[in-house]
Amino acid sequence: MRTIAISNNKGGVGKTTSTVNIAAALEILGKKILVIDIDHQAQTTYHFGLKPSELKYSIFEVLKGEFYYEDIIIHRNGIDILPAKTDLKDLDFLPFPAKEFLLKEALADAKDYDYVLIDCPPSLGILTYNALAYSQEIIIPLQLEFLPFHGMYNLFEGVQDKIRKHLNKKIRISGIIGTMYSAGKDINKEVLNETEARLPGLLFKTRIRKNDDLQAAPSWGKTIFEYKPDSKGAADYMNLAKEIVAAETE
Ligand SMILES: Nc1ncnc2c1ncn2[C@@H]1O[C@H](COP(=O)(O)OP(=O)(O)O)[C@@H](O)[C@H]1O
Ligand SMILES: [Mg+2]
Repeated sequence: MRTIAISNNKGGVGKTTSTVNIAAALEILGKKILVIDIDHQAQTTYHFGLKPSELKYSIFEVLKGEFYYEDIIIHRNGIDILPAKTDLKDLDFLPFPAKEFLLKEALADAKDYDYVLIDCPPSLGILTYNALAYSQEIIIPLQLEFLPFHGMYNLFEGVQDKIRKHLNKKIRISGIIGTMYSAGKDINKEVLNETEARLPGLLFKTRIRKNDDLQAAPSWGKTIFEYKPDSKGAADYMNLAKEIVAAETE
């Protein structure tokens, strides 16, 4: 079982889009998938067509120890989902000890999946720490522009050691996804080159091209494979999922 946090401290870089569509592609490839939404904006939950405000329970009750994770899971088209609601932001205010390890403890029995994918919020804070304490791997979606690159690079240079020391000794960055790529854009190529130079070997070969269908799919509550299976977005996420699967044997 691989546990992967989809994380970047910047918003709008493609974390949610990648979490949902990598999960959907892996499911099509025959893998058993659990998706955890640990962002209090609950966008992965929305993207799968679930309405957070109509859900009675969510990952928050699991973190608080009020419910066993299996009792909260929503089964949707072959994918298991632990949804979020906006109340998740209140985790900050709970007087629990060792709050960074709540997810790890709550999911200690979850062993029957091939992949657990966690969509993280766009900041380092208690929710992201929970995801990083639990995960073996981090996949970073990177919008191929100048500022997002430097934000990502500085963060992971400075923070990686601290994450290893305090949260999770074994965690590693297993890949960087170049998102919202346009072949004609020089800055996209420059950022790809810079990433390869500074973080060699981490970029996935597949780039996720800019694609309107990827942007429209969430408003229908559908993955790209349900919404437009012959779109560029579906092709890109399928190729990316195959790369992720190929790394299983590395
Ligand atoms: N490859 C893409 N092409 C076009 N739009 C995209 C693509 N990836 C993401 N988007 C859109 O960009 C916005 C931010 O993406 P999102 O996945 O929500 O980022 P994050 O979770 O990092 O905040 C959303 O409106 C999403 O639909
Ligand atoms: Mg998001």
